[in-house]
Amino acid sequence: MIPGPGRFELPEGLVYLDGNSLGALPTGVADRLSQVVREEWGRGLIRSWNDAGWMQLVGRVAARLAPLVGVDPADLHLGDSTTVSLFKTTVAAARLRPGRRVLVLEPTTFPTDGYVTAAVAELLGLELRWCDPADPLASVDEDTALLSLTHVDFRTGALFDLPGITARAQERGALVLWDLCHSAGAVPVDLTAAGADLAVGCTYKYLNGGPGSPAWLWVAPRHQAAARQPISGWMGHATPFAMARDFEPREGVGSFASGTPPVLALSALEASLEAFDGVTVTELRERSLALTERFIELVDEHVGDAVEVVTPREQGRRGSQVSLRHPAAYGVVQALVARDVIGDFRDPDIARFGFAPLYNTLADVETAVERLVLVLEHEEHLDPAYAARNAVT
Ligand SMILES: Cc1ncc(COP(=O)(O)O)c(C=O)c1O
Repeated sequence: MIPGPGRFELPEGLVYLDGNSLGALPTGVADRLSQVVREEWGRGLIRSWNDAGWMQLVGRVAARLAPLVGVDPADLHLGDSTTVSLFKTTVAAARLRPGRRVLVLEPTTFPTDGYVTAAVAELLGLELRWCDPADPLASVDEDTALLSLTHVDFRTGALFDLPGITARAQERGALVLWDLCHSAGAVPVDLTAAGADLAVGCTYKYLNGGPGSPAWLWVAPRHQAAARQPISGWMGHATPFAMARDFEPREGVGSFASGTPPVLALSALEASLEAFDGVTVTELRERSLALTERFIELVDEHVGDAVEVVTPREQGRRGSQVSLRHPAAYGVVQALVARDVIGDFRDPDIARFGFAPLYNTLADVETAVERLVLVLEHEEHLDPAYAARNAVT
């Protein structure tokens, strides 16, 4: 059963619709962090690597995360940013398809995915090919090593058919790398059932791990023996404390580790994932769809003339956010923030509203639309104070 907002430390009276950017703070995380800092670090000091199980932390977090993305925890690695995880998995994928020269990705992908893929293409002397987001498979041929896609589009909230695209790209001999930043914790994903190849995702959005919490990466067991990531480091060594001169990778996905695990951040994440205890991905999806559906319905009814819903109306094609197009979208978002409804803005004209199924309610949806109506009616979005943008929008 979904625990609801009581499981989170949300400020009274605030409607928080930005869990697709930074998830809310689950109860228990602050206490756990304080204990790790004061007891494990402060008193245990170096002994805590053994006594407090710091070396097993990645495995413990993986065990909590695995059911949300349909994998075995043993095949997950956590510890880097999403960007670095994309770099490691993209290089590994290209090396798994040595005869093929092309990396395919779509132009509306999250910028970091594009930058990393272009950098890997340059590094390995490969070709970068931009596909049509409406039909990514049209660009996948016998020369394609990798198709790299974000499962849910960060601007529009549109959802790709992960199993279908994976299967069809694989028929052409290509691998597929999925970025699940906007899926894990809100949209059901079963990487194993889909026969997927590789995936990455952040943990600070719907997984509520906190700002900059470590990302995860997954490599299908069938690829692990041959997969070689580019940042060999001592934590990916089979015997790190043997301090051997030559690198010998750990077995399995452990070879994707590079340096010392971020213990504080992983501890916060471990505690935050307890908010998913007893919740099934089916329940999450049902709640998420109920929220986005109702939001779209109310927007259509009350401000349908003023904004355009750019998120697909078909449920099967929608992630867990709804994006509205408005020429003064930045002002709309800021005026809503001033009325205690937090969403965010994406250039040039998108107001985004993320619905975190763990803590958002239908009452949040109603309040948000009521205040959106007021903002537009009173033209609060045109306030000159919103002419200049903040660094983070
Ligand atoms: C789809 C997607 N990929 C990657 C990232 C960010 O990567 P990183 O965790 O390295 O900042 C984001 C951040 O919002 C994202 O939405």
